[in-house]
Amino acid sequence: MGLNVTQKIIQSHLVDGQMLPGSPISIRIDQTLTQDATGTMAYLQFEALGLDRVKTDLSVSYVDHNMLQAGFENADDHRFLQSIAARYGIYFSRPGNGICHQVHLERFSKPGGTLLGSDSHTPTSGGAGMLAIGAGGLDIALAMGGMPFNMNMPQVVGVKLTGNLQPFVSAKDIILEVLRRKTVKGGVGKVFEYFGPGIRSLTAPARSTITNMGAELGATTSVFPSDDITLAYLKAQGREADWRELLPDADASYDEVLEIDLDQLEPLIACPHSPDNVKTVREVAGTPVAQVAIGSCTNSSYTDLMTVAGMMRGRSVAPGVSLGVSPGSRQVMEMIIRDGGMLDIVGSGSRLLESACGPCIGMGFAPPTGGVSIRSFNRNFQGRSGTRDGQVYLASPETCAAAALTGVITDPRDLGIEVPGVQSPEQYVVDDRMIVVPPAPEEAARVEVVRGPNIAKLPQGQPAPDVLAGHNLLKVGDNITTDHIMPAGAKVLPLRSNLPAISQFVFSMVDETFPIRAKELGGGFIVGGHNYGQGSSREHAALAPMYLGVRAVLVKSFARIHLANLINFGILPITFVDEADYDQLEQGDQLAVDIRGLSVGGQLLVVNQTRNVEIRVLPQIGSQRDLELIRSGGALAWASQRMSA
Ligand code: F3S
Repeated sequence: MGLNVTQKIIQSHLVDGQMLPGSPISIRIDQTLTQDATGTMAYLQFEALGLDRVKTDLSVSYVDHNMLQAGFENADDHRFLQSIAARYGIYFSRPGNGICHQVHLERFSKPGGTLLGSDSHTPTSGGAGMLAIGAGGLDIALAMGGMPFNMNMPQVVGVKLTGNLQPFVSAKDIILEVLRRKTVKGGVGKVFEYFGPGIRSLTAPARSTITNMGAELGATTSVFPSDDITLAYLKAQGREADWRELLPDADASYDEVLEIDLDQLEPLIACPHSPDNVKTVREVAGTPVAQVAIGSCTNSSYTDLMTVAGMMRGRSVAPGVSLGVSPGSRQVMEMIIRDGGMLDIVGSGSRLLESACGPCIGMGFAPPTGGVSIRSFNRNFQGRSGTRDGQVYLASPETCAAAALTGVITDPRDLGIEVPGVQSPEQYVVDDRMIVVPPAPEEAARVEVVRGPNIAKLPQGQPAPDVLAGHNLLKVGDNITTDHIMPAGAKVLPLRSNLPAISQFVFSMVDETFPIRAKELGGGFIVGGHNYGQGSSREHAALAPMYLGVRAVLVKSFARIHLANLINFGILPITFVDEADYDQLEQGDQLAVDIRGLSVGGQLLVVNQTRNVEIRVLPQIGSQRDLELIRSGGALAWASQRMSA
């Protein structure tokens, strides 16, 4: 039977496993990317592997998230990232060069290749026919070390596009329609692959708007075929040699098919506070708007911004509206300056923001109290804009520009103006001076990594002893979140590359004395109730307890991602066979568990030496690999052993 594009890329990168939906596979990774907020830890983890140079075809470190230099921390991080990139053979995209996903699409995306990025919108490069997946920093570190990426074989949802986009309807409206139908939970374990005659009306950057926001479906990734439109884009970027054709076979099939008739599609908008709360723009037209923000990794290509410029030309931003525009990359910025679009935008009364993430993560340009902000971005969760009660809507650049002109939510078709009709450039301005090429291995070996006071080396996990013994350091109840374990916030976030400092905040919301006790007692156990570790995928919620010496977590049940993180960092996750045994354990009890018999699916005994009782437990070990990770002291130690073997 014929293969679709997703299956073709996976097949050509398959290291282990079978291509049956849901079954575990591992794939070879060609390229990696990091951004600064996640990159510092990913590179510290890579460094802990003890390798001399990355083993990928290409790895790029971008700086686009934390651009505010109100103190030394971010500036130090940028310097660290630049020097560690040079040391290990990684390209470095300097602050100001643009948002990682936009720049990667422009300068590095390669049809048919695999890309793993420590940012959830890595699927942007799927618009150029790559299988581009977002993952945690540790996964990126391992991929840079040449290890394959493990996941379950995804189901492939074919999204068939027919017809043609009508005036003032654009790529953003397509992905909003998919979100309307499938919701933010509808993509878990799936890849969304676009096909059909309608894809011919979409340029590579427009396709990337769709694959970018596919992340909001919870999907593994989204992908387009690589065709003559992809070729035209890469040619215009001076990268014709990177193109290869990649189409689904004529008899390819999909696990599910979704059809969208572009002729019938109209301007859509995601209302507060979820990207799937989608209505037609006309349904909410007339709502007063305080702020409009155009940019982000979703919608700030040359065509997006020249379309906005064409709509603003000779017109003015409504008096009650603050409009901010951030070009997605320096390339886009240079070109809209060259082609006069910048003058139209600034001349209309817009504020010009830096070529970076900025307002998307609440870094400047927050909406006023209770104010409506229309954004061309991809997320509108409550508070993300920086204003807790801000009312954030997500729409196309065209709908954003219409709101900026009228001061109320407006369907751009109702403005009574001509569609600007912007053509894709035949040749982009290519100037890679903001991308620092890593030196050759010999010179790289002499590079000194610059570590400010906020950058601390990562300790290597130690192999597990035969018997895990220690005190019950803390007993907690049900529904402990990763925020309880490792809080975020302005005080803690800048310490993400400083494990000794950030570990002082472990469980600070539950019991402030925990870090001191854990250190004094030389580590031990944590006991908890149901759903332990729910919430975000925050790696530090396992990494920092590991640093404090936590060897095992014994609870009634775990949240899935935190469970995987515990294993990755060498902490044994265990559940009670009989939940009533939770009552047999008190804080301070001396516990021990002999793990020589540790196996997939097997039981063990935890001995409570203080109360002289034995408790039957089930280690949450799902595979041989999990077992090896626990025995080795975590994924980094495991990988270093394999690499040096
Ligand atoms: Fe940056 Fe927002 Fe995209 S934070 S990477 S512009 S989702």
